[in-house]
Amino acid sequence: MTLKGLILSGGKGTRLYPLTYTRAKQLIPVANKPVLFRVIEAIRDAGVEEIGIVIGDTGPQVREAVGDGSQFGNVRITYIEQDAPAGLGHAVKISQEFLGNERFVMFLGDNVLQGGISELIKDFGNHPEWNGQIVLTPVREAQYYGVAKLRENGSIEYLVEKPADPPSNLALVGIYMFDPNIFKAVHSIKPSKRGELEITDAIQWLIENGYVVFPHVHRGWWIDTGKPHDMLDANGKVLDELVPVIKGYVDASSLVDDRVTIEEGAEVINSVIRGPAIIGKNSRIVNSFIGPFTSIYYNVVVENSELERCLVLEHCRISNVPVRIQDSLIGRYADVGVADSKPHAYKMVLGDYSQVRLLK
Ligand code: TTP
Repeated sequence: MTLKGLILSGGKGTRLYPLTYTRAKQLIPVANKPVLFRVIEAIRDAGVEEIGIVIGDTGPQVREAVGDGSQFGNVRITYIEQDAPAGLGHAVKISQEFLGNERFVMFLGDNVLQGGISELIKDFGNHPEWNGQIVLTPVREAQYYGVAKLRENGSIEYLVEKPADPPSNLALVGIYMFDPNIFKAVHSIKPSKRGELEITDAIQWLIENGYVVFPHVHRGWWIDTGKPHDMLDANGKVLDELVPVIKGYVDASSLVDDRVTIEEGAEVINSVIRGPAIIGKNSRIVNSFIGPFTSIYYNVVVENSELERCLVLEHCRISNVPVRIQDSLIGRYADVGVADSKPHAYKMVLGDYSQVRLLK
């Protein structure tokens, strides 16, 4: 059975401002690899070779980072331009020509899932009579999610968005399998109150019109990296599973834990790195402490400072900070240091929607 892949990498990413003012959210790295690359690899590892990527305003960055897909081995990438983020259902609608008559897997480009999707794809492949399959996972506070109610035979009875009184604890994860009947659905539904063609409405349309949609219940972790703390959570979870490799230089006066990856050209001088953590290419850590669940991307300098559970993006400089920086997301080219001229005060150049928490 041939099956195509569709990754949604448009959208606005407003909940991740300011990081996503200038950068596609799907390109923010988790354990030093963009989330989108992890999604492409998961689809490739499930045996899918033809992948369409829906792109929006940040399309040029995505094209530049992903290219024709040859860096991922056996995959071919087609870009599908969405002129406005008009919803997940709209993204499916504009991808009809690419998807043709094949069944396909659709994956949100900002989701990170433990253990890949090979099982899901096998499951859907074994059931040619299913018109759709959606990934669900048990959650604690179902009222904040899209939730599914199942019938006794296990199929989906209905979906409901953020229900005050959830009919189950099974929330929708951003991964779906469809056959071409989904196009009838996305052409039939109308935009929701927020003006988007909702994929949940399209699935509901399938069910109401006699098509069969089954769930695939995912038991590992899953993170939708929509908000800053989700990014830090995803980063920690992926770091926890990373197989450590030391390729960079660690001097004799440094202490580096077992669960630490040091990438090529990175240098650790007179510092302590406690895993799980990763230090990216050509970054320099000098007289510093890097605590667990921290990712330092490439070309970063950290000197005379302490960081813990942080995600530091490329080309940052963090120097001489007298207190530990924790639970922080630091965007590209950020410079965090101490004031060396009078007045003795906090001095900041913050982007729109930046957040700073100072000590009392
Ligand atoms: P969302 O997280 O729902 O939306 P968003 O990326 O616009 O973020 P925010 O709410 O913070 O503004 O989108 C889920 C994924 O789907 C994400 O990877 C972006 C993608 N997407 C599209 O490709 N096209 C769309 O029309 C929408 C709404 C999302």
